[in-house]
Amino acid sequence: MQTEHQGELSLSTIAMPADANANGDIFGGWVMAQMDLAGSIPAKKAVKNRIVTVAVDKMKFLRPVKVGDRVVCYTQISRVGRTSITIQVDVYAERMTEEKEVKVTEGDFTYVSINNNGLPQAIAVTNPDFVSR
Ligand SMILES: CC(C)(COP(=O)(O)OP(=O)(O)OC[C@H]1O[C@@H](n2cnc3c(N)ncnc32)[C@H](O)[C@@H]1OP(=O)(O)O)[C@@H](O)C(=O)NCCC(=O)NCCS
Repeated sequence: MQTEHQGELSLSTIAMPADANANGDIFGGWVMAQMDLAGSIPAKKAVKNRIVTVAVDKMKFLRPVKVGDRVVCYTQISRVGRTSITIQVDVYAERMTEEKEVKVTEGDFTYVSINNNGLPQAIAVTNPDFVSR
C-alpha cells in the first residue's frame, strides 16, 4: 500500500452501506463525524481535560468515499491557544480495488478545554513547540 500522509493515525473504520447517500457514496456528515472523533483524540491527550468542539474550518471534500473503503484519519496539532487547540485532520480512503491511499477530505477542528460548568478553562501546555497564543 503506497502512502503519502502526514501526522498520527488516530482513527480508522470501514464505510458501510448504512452511511451512504442516495447516490451510493458516503455522506459528508458521516465523514465529518469520524474526523471530529479523530481530532478529539490528540486534543484530549494534549489537554488532559474535558473538551468540546467549537469550530470546524477549511473543510474540503476532495474525493468521494465509497462503500467498503477503509477510512483512515491522520491528525496533527496545528495550534494551541489559551483555552483552545486546533487539530488538522486529513482523511484517506483505502479503496478495495486500489493499492494506494487516496486523500478524500481535510479540515481543521478546534476544541475548547472546559471546566465542570462547561466554561472555557486554560490549557496547561506541556510542549512549547505548539504554543501560539
Ligand atoms: C465552546 C464554548 C464553551 C466556548 O465558550 P465561549 O464563551 O465562546 O468562549 P470564548 O469566547 O472564551 O472562546 C474560548 C476559546 O474558543 C475559541 N473560539 C471560539 N469561537 C471560535 C471559532 N468560531 N473558531 C475558532 N476558535 C473559536 C476562542 O478563540 C477561545 O480560544 P483561546 O482561549 O485559545 O483563544 C461554548 O461556545 C460552547 O459550549 N459551545 C458548544 C460546544 C458544543 O456543544 N460542541 C459540540 C457541537 S456538536
